[in-house]
Amino acid sequence: MKHFLKENDFSDDEILEVFDRASHLKQKRKQELANDLAGQTWGLLFYKNSTRTRVSFEVGINELGGKALVLDQKTTQIGRGESIHDTAQVLSRYLHGLIIRTYGHEIIEEFASHSDIPVVNALTDLLHPCQIYADCFSIAEKLGDSRDPFGSLAGKKLTFLGDTSCNMANSWILAGKLFGMKVSLAGPKGFAPKPDIHDLLINEGVDHDYQFTSDPKEAVADADIVYTDVWVSMGAEEEEESRIESMNPFAVTTELLSQAKSEALFMHCMPTHPGMEVSQEVLDSPKTIIFDQAENRLHMQKAILAKLASKSAT
Ligand code: CP
Repeated sequence: MKHFLKENDFSDDEILEVFDRASHLKQKRKQELANDLAGQTWGLLFYKNSTRTRVSFEVGINELGGKALVLDQKTTQIGRGESIHDTAQVLSRYLHGLIIRTYGHEIIEEFASHSDIPVVNALTDLLHPCQIYADCFSIAEKLGDSRDPFGSLAGKKLTFLGDTSCNMANSWILAGKLFGMKVSLAGPKGFAPKPDIHDLLINEGVDHDYQFTSDPKEAVADADIVYTDVWVSMGAEEEEESRIESMNPFAVTTELLSQAKSEALFMHCMPTHPGMEVSQEVLDSPKTIIFDQAENRLHMQKAILAKLASKSAT
């Protein structure tokens, strides 16, 4: 069974196919009805809050002719301790696919290992691959050709600032390698990438060649893309005060952004916290493409689901 749990779960040919389809779906959204998921019901099992991911998946499933069923751990028997094995087996008898947002990556891996339907990672503490595919599509759309992520992204420098041990930083390490980008991370020493991403890269046979520094100006120099994310990830609320203090030097301000290339893009997966990880001035500047990123979640996820549905039908 084909699942999408991490950025490199699709081959290069499949990635090209998915990006091409996302581009087509975006262009023809108002003119063409798609029916890739006709007669299908896909579950959305969310252990964590979400605006973009939940809505874009639900709308996307509807637009592909399917139905979405939103579930959470509190109102299902998962909250009362039913095993992942039994839950995955039972849901496989009802649903055609399962999209999961959860905490530990091992939870989604366990679901996938016991599911007879495709499982999609809608964010774990380790990776956020749907966001990354939509972001790569957004960069390619602005700097090249959205149907050709390899040609458009190769050699581009992406600088990620702030919590460089978070799932988005991990995903950029993996995606940067996949698309031939130069990934530069800048954050406090205590928030350098953690062994779990290195273990994953080793398991996948991917060598890591990102740069890590605690000097934000050095990291941003000559960047094509400057990226940041929330400093206090879901589940890290108890560390809020200390995180804000240590990450403050890595806030994306107009002054810091001026160190990047003059045509550099500013990106953020949202939700943003103006005045913390990014200034309002940067968010209001023409360099910012955050709403394109959010929109592209819809087109890209539709293409991913259509690809998984076609693979599970064969
Ligand atoms: N970027 C992102 O995943 O947004 P949500 O948490 O709102 O889904």
